[in-house]
Amino acid sequence: MRITIPDFCLVVLIGASGSGKSTFARRHFKATEVVSSDACRGLVEDDESSLDSITLLHFIAETRLKRRKLTVIDAINVRQEDRAHFVRIAKKYHALAVAIVLDPGADLCQERNKARYDRQFGPHVVRNHMLSLRRNLRGIGKEGFRYVHELGSVEAIDSLKIARESLWTDARHKSGPFDIIGDVHGCADELEALLAKLGYLVSWESNGTDWACTVIPPQGRRAIFVGDLVDRGPRTPDVLRLVHTMVASGAALCVPGNHEVKLIRWLHGRNVKLTHGLAESAAQLEHESRSFRVRMRTFLDNLVSHLWLDGGRLVVAHAGITEEMIGRSSGAVREFCLYGETTGETDEYGLPVRYNWASEHRGSTTVVYGHTPVVTPEWLNNTICIDTGCVFGGKLTALRWPEKELVEVSAAKAYAEPTRPLAATTSGNLSL
Ligand code: CTP
Ligand code: MG
Repeated sequence: MRITIPDFCLVVLIGASGSGKSTFARRHFKATEVVSSDACRGLVEDDESSLDSITLLHFIAETRLKRRKLTVIDAINVRQEDRAHFVRIAKKYHALAVAIVLDPGADLCQERNKARYDRQFGPHVVRNHMLSLRRNLRGIGKEGFRYVHELGSVEAIDSLKIARESLWTDARHKSGPFDIIGDVHGCADELEALLAKLGYLVSWESNGTDWACTVIPPQGRRAIFVGDLVDRGPRTPDVLRLVHTMVASGAALCVPGNHEVKLIRWLHGRNVKLTHGLAESAAQLEHESRSFRVRMRTFLDNLVSHLWLDGGRLVVAHAGITEEMIGRSSGAVREFCLYGETTGETDEYGLPVRYNWASEHRGSTTVVYGHTPVVTPEWLNNTICIDTGCVFGGKLTALRWPEKELVEVSAAKAYAEPTRPLAATTSGNLSL
């Protein structure tokens, strides 16, 4: 059997004493990646296990996860409460947790342990491990592990191959140059004008029933959309067509915005309120074919929360991101990237007051985001918001990377009224 694990994750090995966890860990992982209860015990104790050695195990695991290092827990972990701790710390550091259960059978574990000078305990020990394992294995799928792999025989354990893959958010190998484009909100005219200004050749062609477009980017360049492609504006389907074509052909990358998330729910037939410009998108999409709507739904469904690019120097996320979330994966990371973080208060316009994460950004990674319309993009601690409220009659803005030049086109008109006047907006505190 072959399994794939993320190259940054927390692997929790589970199995009775003698099931082969340490042997398995040695075979598949670097010695530095493995945090073993035995080794921790050896550092602080001479024989018996203690709370201190477990605290040490947890501390090393947390430290590695904090530093975005793949970590393997080599401990018995047959009790649900022991595993729960590891699921908790994986979540805390936005790492995916992977469970690998080794169960070659109680007899073999007993037999192996008889030959081990440091496992001269009675047969009840393995028996208890096995009982505990079997008792709560059925519910393991609900414990918070992203993947659970059960290896129920010596053959399954011995023949396993583990491949590692980058997290989808990790696009560090993509180095640009990029043209990062702010919130489009259905303003296809302005998007076409901006693309032309950036040197992209866009052509439309009808096949009788549908329109198709071709986009040729300038040599070596690629666009990145910060999300909120849809809603409020007059040509949401065309914006989707354009961006989908560009992403499919490799001419663009795209992260989702909160408006895409709501539109996806509508496209799935869920009951969503047609507010904040969704009514316009819905009306426009009703005129499109069902197959177009399904294609767009699949496209939007597959967008990942943020993109970590250019050797780690750049991040693009719709509502921004904090340093400790970059290149990681969790529900909290996705939420933050889509909605930012609110303080829990609302302003005089009834909109949530946003926690200004950008003012606390200290890292060397540049964060480019949208979501909060501003009159003029301004750099703040290596972050920049490039949503210049095109759909409200502002501008559609692109940031050239690595040049850090702004390129913009003015909106032909105001297609929607902002809940709060754009001029009253300061970077990072308006949610629309
Ligand atoms: N072993 C073996 N063949 C395997 C796996 C393990 O012969 N395919 C042997 C090892 O050499 C070792 C013993 O079985 O002597 C137990 O394996 P180990 O990997 O140390 O088991 P663990 O699950 O790590 O046991 P513990 O929980 O006691 O550390
Ligand atoms: Mg071991």
